Amino acid sequence: LSYQAFDKLQRPLRDLRLSVTDQCNFRCRYCMPEEIFGPDYAFLAKDQLLSFPELVRLTRIFVSLGVQKVRITGGEPLMRKGLPELIRRIGEIEGVRDIAVTTNGSLLARHAQALKDAGLRRVTVSLDSLDDERFGRMNGRGFKVSQVLTGIDAAAAAGLQVKVNMVVQKGTNDQDVLPMARYFREKGHILRFIEYMDVGNSNGWRLDQVLPSREIVSLIQREMPLEPVGANHYGEVAQRYRYAGEEGEIGLISSVTQAFCSTCTRARLSAEGKLYSCLFASTGTDLSGPLRDGRSDEQIRRLIAEFWSGRDDRYSEERLRNTPGLKRKKIEMSHIGG
Ligand code: GTP
Ligand code: 5AD
Ligand code: SF4
Ligand code: SF4
Repeated sequence: LSYQAFDKLQRPLRDLRLSVTDQCNFRCRYCMPEEIFGPDYAFLAKDQLLSFPELVRLTRIFVSLGVQKVRITGGEPLMRKGLPELIRRIGEIEGVRDIAVTTNGSLLARHAQALKDAGLRRVTVSLDSLDDERFGRMNGRGFKVSQVLTGIDAAAAAGLQVKVNMVVQKGTNDQDVLPMARYFREKGHILRFIEYMDVGNSNGWRLDQVLPSREIVSLIQREMPLEPVGANHYGEVAQRYRYAGEEGEIGLISSVTQAFCSTCTRARLSAEGKLYSCLFASTGTDLSGPLRDGRSDEQIRRLIAEFWSGRDDRYSEERLRNTPGLKRKKIEMSHIGG
């Protein structure tokens, strides 16, 4: 547990983001637009998914290379059968300091208690609007806001710490910034605003759809004074602000206007076992083959160590200078869960 892997830009390997399914019950326009992810879309077959024993074994190997924090993503991770059991087993690995789940919240009311009982301490729920019409349009399936809010309340009632992620798209849900801030300030949950990003190739991203974080801060400031708070840990992606004189806080994740690649410590594993060095990578390193061919832990460890030591990604820092790079093939968000 004393070893620490570093990449070419001297960034330590600290976080592992595990996607446990590529399926989702939502069809958010910015992530899985219905025209592409329609009834005929070929999702992974069950035997292509890494099994729980495989995920636990890999996590143990990642921890031996420096990983301390594990985030479970999807698609929608609560669609993976038996998820609490996986969380329990990952939590038992010595060296794992933090586990979190990123969910759309729609199935949370049903699963919150089981997640808590499995040892989970916190969840991050995505919610982009408090208005049913806009939210229904953004999630592509007409899901109601109340279903997600009920999930959030159930998670809090079960004793889970809740953070909320809102993707802000200018011209789509910028009018929801203030209502969301007011609501979650009152509720006592940290709300994080995410700048809309050009992940994948299917969302038709344009720079003029990005609402820069500093504009969000000044918008909120006018009504509710804010003061900056320092980072919780090295490589934290969100810039934090506290409501002046209160405990409550917000975060801003500014991947477009203030890229944070220089401290990016995250490796991402897709549900089928491909390892990605960046959210915007075009190809991954297959780990499922080696796992299933009977390679030893040491051989797999070496593979991952080589993968990390060759890493030099800094897509977001280059984005605005490198327009041709924007057009290349990129992995879809629903494959690696953001
Ligand atoms: P905490 O551990 O609670 O601080 O969460 P986190 O910020 O590490 O994870 P979370 O999944 O909540 O991140 C929120 C969002 O930030 C993601 O869904 C992405 O949209 C974005 N994000 C996270 N990591 C990266 C990254 O490495 N690069 C880019 N470009 N965006 C990222
Ligand atoms: N830009 C920014 N955030 C995104 N997410 C999904 N697609 C995008 C995008 N194009 C967010 C989700 C969720 C997290 C997994 O990533 O809303 O909060
Ligand atoms: Fe599903 Fe999350 Fe993608 Fe929306 S952003 S389609 S909830 S995986
Ligand atoms: Fe990390 Fe890639 Fe995001 Fe930069 S763009 S912070 S390198 S995942």
